[in-house]
Amino acid sequence: MLIKESSLNAIVDAAERLGKGELVAFPTETVYGLGANALDGKAVARIFEAKERPAFNPLIIHVADLEMAKELAAFDDRAISVAKKFWPGPLTLILPRKKDSPVSELCTAGLETIAVRIPSHPVAQDLLRRAEIPVAAPSANKSGEPSPTTPAHVLESLGDAVDLILAAGKCHVGLESTVLDLSVEQPVILRSGAVTKEQLETILPNVLYSNDVTQTPKSPGQTLKHYAPSIPVRLNAIDLEEGEALLAFGSTKFMGIRSGGAASDLPESKVRNLSESGDLHEAAANLFAYLRELDNAEFKGIAVMNVPETGIGVAINDRLHRAAGSQ
Ligand code: TXA
Ligand code: MG
Repeated sequence: MLIKESSLNAIVDAAERLGKGELVAFPTETVYGLGANALDGKAVARIFEAKERPAFNPLIIHVADLEMAKELAAFDDRAISVAKKFWPGPLTLILPRKKDSPVSELCTAGLETIAVRIPSHPVAQDLLRRAEIPVAAPSANKSGEPSPTTPAHVLESLGDAVDLILAAGKCHVGLESTVLDLSVEQPVILRSGAVTKEQLETILPNVLYSNDVTQTPKSPGQTLKHYAPSIPVRLNAIDLEEGEALLAFGSTKFMGIRSGGAASDLPESKVRNLSESGDLHEAAANLFAYLRELDNAEFKGIAVMNVPETGIGVAINDRLHRAAGSQ
């Protein structure tokens, strides 16, 4: 396994490796992806092996531009409008898979639909342009772990299972892309993310969250246990219990410990603040790293302060509920 800072040489090397069927972890604006040539079934199979992921869970195909996306999926007028507004960016579209789509069936897990996305991270863009192939990429972590937002997370989680890690620091969004199903008439948000329902409503006034449509999520990945630290996670905490670590949001100065004392007196090792100023985008970018840092058996659990359910806060709360096992 190699780690390379994302210089031009490193990106060229990464593109060549993808072409040869190797696994390359690369940065996107959301989280690090574990990429493989989507046209090469054997390479894609290595993704499932490396992640220890159930093979029925389909993968997102990453492409450099709309032209390439159109070779894989059928875009109707709605899909074109949404793509023009939000791509490149943190949005994945579920569309009918084109009959002659060259992507390996393993990527789509036998479904008649396909998930596509054009990431906006300049390194991902450069890599996809040079590779000239569609790249299947789930988040670069073992199944069931929080998604990686730094190269160190990828290394920790996947180690030698990946051939190259293209490193470019911390991902600025920090949460996985919004997944929008446009393969059916009713547009449905299968996974919340940085592109919010309010933003999508500007083009799709009737868009709904999947929970409001059905109890059975259509995104197979949404049914899996996800983002779960190994110690209990307690949400909407207004007070700390003895032995708990604190995942704070905004000002902590009024947050006391039940046994006496104030959270602001806790040692640094026991507290992470998602955003002291209460900035939800900053909180999203810090979420997975801080969950990992507090996931330590010396703590009884992680108490999490309330995060407002507005804008990207909806996606933060979705991931927190999964971490707490309450979804
Ligand atoms: O931000 C992201 O989306 C990151 C970066 C690397 O792009 N990728 C990512 O991939 O989060 P992954 O595999 O961890 O999550 C993909 C989600 C899963 O919940 C999967 O079930 C769903 O997309 N999905 C993929 N293809 C689908 C399809 N055809 N129909 C419904 N859901 C699909
Ligand atoms: Mg994932």
